[in-house]
Amino acid sequence: MIIYRAKDYKDMSRKAANIISAQVIMKPNCTLGLATGSTPLGIYDQLTEWYKKGDLDFSAVHSVNLDEYRGLPKENDQSYYYFMHKNLFDRVNIRSENTNVPNGMEPDAEKECRRYEKLIADLGGIDLQLLGLGHNGHIGFNEPGEAFEKETHCVDLQERTIEANKRFFESADEVPRQAYTMGIKTIMQAKKILVAVSGEDKAEIVKKAFFGPVTPTVPASILQMHNDVTVVADEAALSLCCK
Ligand code: GLP
Repeated sequence: MIIYRAKDYKDMSRKAANIISAQVIMKPNCTLGLATGSTPLGIYDQLTEWYKKGDLDFSAVHSVNLDEYRGLPKENDQSYYYFMHKNLFDRVNIRSENTNVPNGMEPDAEKECRRYEKLIADLGGIDLQLLGLGHNGHIGFNEPGEAFEKETHCVDLQERTIEANKRFFESADEVPRQAYTMGIKTIMQAKKILVAVSGEDKAEIVKKAFFGPVTPTVPASILQMHNDVTVVADEAALSLCCK
């Protein structure tokens, strides 16, 4: 695991975007695993800026997103489909048909999860997976539990996650209670993993996830077992470790 120390959020975003752009330059037809949340916003802004300058070409890139709320239609401005189009897909030249987000409106969870796993396999796997880090150590929507959930599955969101995500909704009642998410095995099969973390509120979980024991009670801790993980974190997120 390589840990890059960034000065602040902007620096973290630029460093992480650099790694993604290196991937796209080295393999123009790569498959990028993408994430939502506040953390990647600066990364997507930076990638857009470089695309506009003519330094990046996404025309042959495929993407697969980590997760999607169950029951939210694409048009809902809180769906991850909407988020990705607004913050990245509609701003660069990735082909819309090459982008993939789990279909939150498919009521048959098993069918949708199987479809998504097959789609990733048919793309030849994920070349670079971008991850944010939940306060409870979740990655995608893999919540802390007794075991690592393996493949794409339907999850019940934990109170802390609903609480953290309610800022995007009118009230906590409106936050969906379930989501479809890639599983830990799906994520761990990515050839490279890039974790972006920012802010003092993540310092505790950074310490646990990357320096503590590997345990399903901190899902991100499994990343210690992957042989190509790069963490880009700002000073605030690293404040409880690697002084
Ligand atoms: C959400 C997403 C995760 C994300 C996490 C952290 O629940 N499903 O993929 O990494 O929260 O979000 P943020 O970056 O806003 O702290």
